[in-house]
Amino acid sequence: MEGSLNMAIYAIWNNKGGVGKSYLTFQVACEYARQNPSKKVLVVDMCPQANSSSMLLGGMVNGENQLNTIHSQPRRVTISGYLEDRIASPYQSPGTGSTYLTQVSNHNHSVPSNLFLVVGDEQLETQASRVANATRPRSARCVAYCAFVGRRLDSGHLDALES
Ligand SMILES: Nc1ncnc2c1ncn2[C@@H]1O[C@H](COP(=O)(O)OP(=O)(O)OP(=O)(O)O)[C@@H](O)[C@H]1O
Ligand SMILES: [Mg+2]
Repeated sequence: MEGSLNMAIYAIWNNKGGVGKSYLTFQVACEYARQNPSKKVLVVDMCPQANSSSMLLGGMVNGENQLNTIHSQPRRVTISGYLEDRIASPYQSPGTGSTYLTQVSNHNHSVPSNLFLVVGDEQLETQASRVANATRPRSARCVAYCAFVGRRLDSGHLDALES
């Protein structure tokens, strides 16, 4: 991260499972942070399995334990915690993004201190439809709702839809 206007962003994605996405993310992020100590590196783990997060937090049993500890805190400092803020405010940034960062070296001393993580979260699975509903225009939701109830739309339906 070098400021919002001078920041390289890489997305590692593949529709096929088990091809090395999580492991590559872990390795590339750690190595880039090690070779560039003056830069800050942020990994945003958008996978509900949170395997990259687990690896960064120590791997194996230790990584899973760290992940479970983070997931069981009253305030969910994960990608899902941030998405909850965005579901409530989908069109205007709530300005809370930085409060969801985890400095990885606080959990895993083998990782450089310039590496930060937005921890993955299994709740992403259940949030997906809520994210879609939060950003779908009201008229589209009305059509879907009317199709569901199978009758004409009136103001009562609209009120129910918005509540
Ligand atoms: N370069 C590599 N050399 C050897 N083994 C690797 C390499 N990259 C990944 N693996 C191993 O392959 C397996 C799958 O890797 P990984 O979990 O990163 O895949 P993935 O694409 O993230 O899977 P998923 O779709 O389930 O999220 C893991 O056991 C990982 O340790
Ligand atoms: Mg993976």
